Amino acid sequence: MNNTELRSQALEVLVANHRDGYTLPAPGLYPFQWCWDSGPIALGWAAAGRFEEAWSELHRLFSAQWPTGMVPHIVFWQDSDRYFPGPEVWGTAHTPQTTGLTQPPLPVSAAARLFMQDPDRDRARDALVSLWPRLLSWLSWFERARSGPHGAVVAVHPWESGMDNSPSWDEPLAGVTEASEIPLARRDVETVAADERPSELEYRKYLGIVERLRAAGWDTERQPADSPFVVEDPCLTAVTARAAADLVEVVQVAEAEGADGLDAGEAERLAKSVLAGLEGLWDEDLGWYRPYDVLAGRPVGAAASTGLVALWAGVAPARVSRVVERLDAWGRLLPVAVATADPNGPGYDPIRYWRGPVWVLVNWLVADGLSRAGLAERAEALRVGTRALVEQGFSEYYDPRDGHGIGGHGFSWSAALTLAWLTT
Ligand code: DGY
Repeated sequence: MNNTELRSQALEVLVANHRDGYTLPAPGLYPFQWCWDSGPIALGWAAAGRFEEAWSELHRLFSAQWPTGMVPHIVFWQDSDRYFPGPEVWGTAHTPQTTGLTQPPLPVSAAARLFMQDPDRDRARDALVSLWPRLLSWLSWFERARSGPHGAVVAVHPWESGMDNSPSWDEPLAGVTEASEIPLARRDVETVAADERPSELEYRKYLGIVERLRAAGWDTERQPADSPFVVEDPCLTAVTARAAADLVEVVQVAEAEGADGLDAGEAERLAKSVLAGLEGLWDEDLGWYRPYDVLAGRPVGAAASTGLVALWAGVAPARVSRVVERLDAWGRLLPVAVATADPNGPGYDPIRYWRGPVWVLVNWLVADGLSRAGLAERAEALRVGTRALVEQGFSEYYDPRDGHGIGGHGFSWSAALTLAWLTT
């Protein structure tokens, strides 16, 4: 399929999923605004030349930011009986209604890129100046309220990682004794086959953690003390470090164009300290970045996407080479790159959500890290392989054994990254 055709199909997906100033990740399955999805989605709109929609995606998300700086992982802009757990289960008493957890701050990096790309320089400057305090206060909150023992960013719920049921979380989740007793009114398994989604026990624990944090009053300044799940997450850490570095990069351009009040000092300090925290998660024996279970006091899990996307932070080429060695070994077992978990590791499952399937977002983050480490050919090979997947449809994820699309369909970030990465 040629680029023009593929781009027009991708744009159709974004248009169909667009609501009042924001874009659903997938109709039916995810009927609200999701935090980290908004980043790539904004970049997709921008790549289609639709900067009004692109900026609005971010303005909408940040208008739901909490006073502490936390940006919630779901904003319930409209009523829907299509999703569980809805606002009544969260009970956060925030307006608009939101969850009380966050997700990797990709929207910050998206704001930096939109600023650089927008041909309307007045609009770009005004948007950056108005978003700036919100972007920075989110990153400062990560450092203030979510630093773990290595200085990496802590997740207090698997949902915060964005990689909900990754095998990386099996050990810390096994230590969670809270399993909710409420009737599980799951709607996800009506749209997607149950064997492609998290299990019932995982859901009970996800809700058990939500109930604990809710009972503690959703105090986002002290969630690591309130949660039974406290894990330094390489993905959250890498995305935060890169977000801060991206802000540092835009300041010079913005100041030269007359923007005031964008003090880069805090972003610069954060970029360095969070990157140092990420380095604290490097496991030399495994040759991979590994999550660290704070409550158990040990690194957890085999090589998986949670550590793989550390490449996005722009890590040293020597680290990237070690990771690439392992990816090569996976490539000898699986024709489609990149699996989200070690195919020989415990908990690997080629079709179950974050336990093995290939995700367009992960491939984009990895390809970026590869080219920053000077591995342009490998990055290009990953781009070409990923393009072949989306040609069959914009699925939520793909089976690494044969590339067929699984999970939700008409998935926004697969379409958005087709526009912003796969057809440029
Ligand atoms: C879901 O509902 O599966 C989401 O991943 C939670 O954020």
